[in-house]
Amino acid sequence: MELLNVALPKGRLGEKVYGLLKAAGYPCPAIEEENRKLIFENPEAGVRYFWVKPSDVAIYVERGAADIGVAGKDILLEYGPDVYELADLGLGKCRMCVAAKKDFRDSADRLLRVATKFPHIAARYYSAQSREIDIIKLNGSIEIAPILGLSDVIVDIVETGKTLLENDLEPRETIVPISARLIANKVSYKFKHEQIAALCERLEARKNP
Ligand code: PRP
Repeated sequence: MELLNVALPKGRLGEKVYGLLKAAGYPCPAIEEENRKLIFENPEAGVRYFWVKPSDVAIYVERGAADIGVAGKDILLEYGPDVYELADLGLGKCRMCVAAKKDFRDSADRLLRVATKFPHIAARYYSAQSREIDIIKLNGSIEIAPILGLSDVIVDIVETGKTLLENDLEPRETIVPISARLIANKVSYKFKHEQIAALCERLEARKNP
């Protein structure tokens, strides 16, 4: 049988996801060795894993380079890839928030300057409120923007809230809760249906409540 190609997000979340897959019956001993390889397979378990940048998982899956993968809901909302979302894994839980400096007072008649890595999520959120904004797209360390006066607020991921706190910012509004989702390529879902359905079922039995 053909191996199931699985794109895993490189990093802490990916390690947890691999742990879940291992417990669900898809171990891959080679992946547990310390090395810098990015592709690992275990023919007995029927899987081939790739480590990819978390924000790229959905691209591999959408284009069929991976049959399935694990991506944050933030990425799915921001880029809207044409994939099936099969399950909420209950891992990587956090929320997309608006945050600002503690002394920032908003006034609805002013253009709001919003710094973010997620311009589409931010645009949709404010457009639903008919609020005009100026989006400043950044690629990381978003918390610095309001401190340096680059923006009024940020739209970013908050997990523990520590980064905000340590930079004198506070969460003001929650836009949406975020967690890791199992996604599938639409063609693979049809042609490798049995393998994917079996994996989903075994994961479902293992995942966090
Ligand atoms: C995310 C986010 C915050 C931080 C929030 O950054 O952008 O900076 O995590 O976590 P906390 O609430 O637990 O402090 P990430 O680590 O993804 O890196 P980034 O700087 O590239 O956004």
